[in-house]
This record gives sequence, structure tokens and C-alpha cells, in this order.
Amino acid sequence: MNDLTTEILLANPQGFERAAEIWRAGGLVALPTETVYGLGADARNDLAVARIFEAKGRPRFNPLIVHVASVDDAKDLVEWNDVADRLASAFWPGPLTLVLPLKSGSGLSPLVTADLPTLAVRMPANPLAQDVLRGFGGPIAAPSANPSGKISPTSAEHVKAGLSGKIEAIVDGGTCDVGLESTIVGLFDKPTLLRPGGLPKEALEAALGEPLGVHSAADPLVAPGQMTSHYAPGASVRLNASEAEEGELLLGFGAVDCTLNLSASGDLREAAANLFHHLHALDAMNSKGIAVSPIPNQGLGVAINDRLKRAAAPRD
Ligand code: TXA
Ligand code: MG
Repeated sequence: MNDLTTEILLANPQGFERAAEIWRAGGLVALPTETVYGLGADARNDLAVARIFEAKGRPRFNPLIVHVASVDDAKDLVEWNDVADRLASAFWPGPLTLVLPLKSGSGLSPLVTADLPTLAVRMPANPLAQDVLRGFGGPIAAPSANPSGKISPTSAEHVKAGLSGKIEAIVDGGTCDVGLESTIVGLFDKPTLLRPGGLPKEALEAALGEPLGVHSAADPLVAPGQMTSHYAPGASVRLNASEAEEGELLLGFGAVDCTLNLSASGDLREAAANLFHHLHALDAMNSKGIAVSPIPNQGLGVAINDRLKRAAAPRD
């Protein structure tokens, strides 16, 4: 389907009502969250969820995060436990996704979990996301609202550029505050970091009082969507560059002479919020390559470097 008229909905009660109406009818609506824009569908509707994969061109084996408006709504979907309670009271609503055993009778489409016995669930902090979820009153499955393998969207314009004509609507909630996808933690025998993201590992470990487990690449329960090449702009990407070479644009960090700077003052929070935005902007300049300054590998820098490594990976 490539011939839909994609409506741009204002983030007001009429817009939320329209979004809920489209979701109830099995349609796709992109919604703003504090991390990145999500491409949402009713998580209980097989056809609607299948359309997410189709619109993104996403491999079927890659499961989706379900977004809920409250902790109680999450408890209807997964086998909740004490560690989930501790992390949710510290960090929900917010950029943290918890992976827990799927509850039987959850009513979710098996496409959402790609048939895994676990479910990734999160309660977003963006008040507009909460309003639109509450207005619908059910679980919304939402991957990032970008064509599979491309840069994640941090504004309604990014979503429109990537998915216009393939989805029914976009709720325009401005730019995303965090700008990086959520941190994913698997709550199995030991809480395990599955994907670094908008909530730094250090904060999680402080709340848990113990280090997070690290997953082994061979573990099939590890966030399976983490292909090596991802977030890829059209141009090639070169990391840890001190300056741009001939034909390259420099994505800077700190006090450097560059085309666009993630944060001139070297602030990792600002850099995270700017990351996808700047990659989209540099991509639109159609250069041969994008060189990127070194980013300190601590706090949010871990997730920023993870995304940049994927953007730079050889593509199949
Ligand atoms: O911030 C975010 O997390 C954004 C916004 C829209 O909420 N969503 C997002 O979704 O980044 P997506 O689909 O682009 O990434 C979801 C990741 C994938 O790597 C997927 O493999 C993993 O979550 N995942 C989903 N369900 C899982 C499960 N049951 N076990 C392990 N990993 C899972
Ligand atoms: Mg994504």
C-alpha cells in the first residue's frame, strides 16, 4: 500500500480522537514519544500489526515493543515481578523498556512478539503519547517510525519523509526530548541489558543495587532487531574522525570545526537529542561520506556510539 493520504494530526483532543478512530479501524498512526516517533497499531489486531512490518519493510522475526498508559495496563500483558516493580517505580514513565514473560490470555497478536514467550513493554513519558494512548484505551505496538534499517525519526517531518503514503496518520508532537530509543532490560534470572538507550546503564544499576548482566551474542532472547547495519544514511559513515576528508561532512562533538555539531559544549544529553536529527540533515546534503568526531563511551555516550557503529557498518 503506497497510495494512502497521510493525515497530519494536531496534538489536541480532536487529533487524539482521530488517532484512536484510525487505530480502532486497524490503521497505522505514528505517535511522538520522548525517545523517537513510534509507528503505532492496535497490538491485538493481527492485520494492523502485519501492516507495521509491511510499511517499514521490516523482517518478520523482529518483535515489537508494546506501549501502555499505566503500570496496571502492563501487568495485564506480562508476568510482573518485584524487579519490574522496582524499575518501573524508579523510571516509568520514561525511556526504559522491560522484557518479561508474556501472560497467557494477553490477547496480543503473536506477530507482536514474533512468537517469543516474552514481551517488551514500555510506558512512555511524553504527555502527548500518554494522552493518545489513554484516548485509545488499549495496547499499542510501535517500532520506531522509520523504514527498516534507516535513521530513526525524531520529528513528524522525519516520519513523513520516510513513510508518507504508507500510513494513515502522524500525530505531530514536535521534536523528541531524548532523541534515542529506550534502553531495553530483560528481566530473566538476572536483569540483563539488551539494548543501550535513552536511560543510562549507570542509573539502572544504581536503582538495582547490582550490575546488569550482559547478554551473549549467541543468546536468541537478545533484542533480535539489532542487526549490524542499521540507522544507515545514504552516505558512508566514518567514526572517530578528527576532521573531514575531501568530500566528507563532519558531524562534530565538542569544540571542533564541523558541518553540524552534536553538542559544541560536549554535553551527551544534548548530543543524544541531536543525533538522528543531524544524521537526517547531513543525509539530505548528499555528500560522499559523513565523518563523526569521537564520542566519550560513558553514560548516554554508550547508546550514541552503538547507533553510530550501526550507521557505519558495512551494508548488505
Ligand atoms: O524508544 C523506543 O524503544 C522506540 C519508541 C517508539 O518506543 N521503539 C523502538 O522500537 O525502538 P524498535 O522496534 O525500533 O526496537 C525494538 C527493539 C528491537 O531491537 C527488538 O528486537 C527488541 O526491541 N525486542 C522487542 N521485543 C523483544 C523481546 N520480547 N525480547 C527481546 N527483544 C525484544
Ligand atoms: Mg528502530
